Amino acid sequence: MTSTDTARVVHGPKRPGTPALEARGLTKHFPVHGGLRRGRVVRAVEDVSLALPEGTVTAVVGESGSGKSTLSRLLTRLTAPTAGELLLDGEPVGGSARARRAYAGQVHLVLQDPFSSLNAVHSIRYHLRRPLKLHHGLRGSELDAHAAQLLERVSLTPAERYLDKFPHELSGGQRQRVAIARGLAVRPRVLLADEPVSMLDVSIRLGVLNLLDELRERERLAILYVTHDIASARYLADTVVVMYAGQVVESGPAVQVTDAPAHPYTRLLLSAAPDPHRREPVVLRGRGAPPSLIDPPSGCRFHPRCPLAMPVCAETAPPVRPAAGDQVAACWLLDPERAPGTTPA
Ligand SMILES: Nc1ncnc2c1ncn2[C@@H]1O[C@H](COP(=O)(O)OP(=O)(O)OP(=O)(O)O)[C@@H](O)[C@H]1O
Ligand code: SF4
Ligand SMILES: [Mg+2]
Repeated sequence: MTSTDTARVVHGPKRPGTPALEARGLTKHFPVHGGLRRGRVVRAVEDVSLALPEGTVTAVVGESGSGKSTLSRLLTRLTAPTAGELLLDGEPVGGSARARRAYAGQVHLVLQDPFSSLNAVHSIRYHLRRPLKLHHGLRGSELDAHAAQLLERVSLTPAERYLDKFPHELSGGQRQRVAIARGLAVRPRVLLADEPVSMLDVSIRLGVLNLLDELRERERLAILYVTHDIASARYLADTVVVMYAGQVVESGPAVQVTDAPAHPYTRLLLSAAPDPHRREPVVLRGRGAPPSLIDPPSGCRFHPRCPLAMPVCAETAPPVRPAAGDQVAACWLLDPERAPGTTPA
């Protein structure tokens, strides 16, 4: 791959055939409305191309403000892109009300806070029957049978124990399972899970991650798993996509990226991840804060924090280059002409 190929780099698990969902060049610039920076834009997501094949999990990791949620909202079409397009089963997604409804039935977003996504005054039965009625026209006893099946699919069994409960009567993990079951009611092909376990007790996180794993295997869903936690990304995902300041800086097979990260930012994320086996304290050179997305740094956006920055890094944005196998990264260190001259700053 040469630098001229960068526009064609599509991140995500490599599988034969057409991916369930593909994003090409997705970009989102939010206008700034008030204050001194009025008229400028927040560059939340820049030119991200991503393919989500069925039966796979793709994890998007990065610090707070790196653009992960904006990317998942762009994929749901809840946020309109500044540029870029979406393809469902290889077909460009239309803009009509009908196309939007059809898309919403195929691509479902699971939110971080299961409490806010469930209505406290309604029972679990109500929450599950509603999408079954609206999307599939089911009526009467069929509704209850399908609602019970949905609970079984998310391992809330026996279903009768849960159907007449209210959200506040369930644990956080059980609520997240109900929220996922409600999403499954519309029979989506793609599940976008934005920090689905970060508000749950540590003891029940693994159960919800294992449920996502089962849905990938059993129901062949294409899953996007958004997280701060690179360790859980390694546990669950086929592919890890690392975002920094609105851009993808590295992607590749989860084990490869976490065992041998190619980008200095991925190394920083990994060194900050809790490791029960680590004895010495973590020393993070170049730590600091993420940059402003209104005035992002020139060249490589990570250069003000990078312990390996070279003069070129502040001048020119690095192209995405292959690191090893399907692993790619946007870093000048991967350029054979620059790397030998590397002088740590
Ligand atoms: N509606 C909006 N209007 C203006 N700026 C926004 C809007 N939504 C997000 N942003 C900005 O876009 C950037 C990316 O935000 P986003 O929520 O996507 O980050 P994130 O990676 O999901 O962060 P976190 O890990 O904290 O959830 C941030 O600078 C944020 O302030
Ligand atoms: S391009 Fe330069 S500043 Fe950016 S991550 Fe690579 S070495 Fe660091
Ligand atoms: Mg977020």
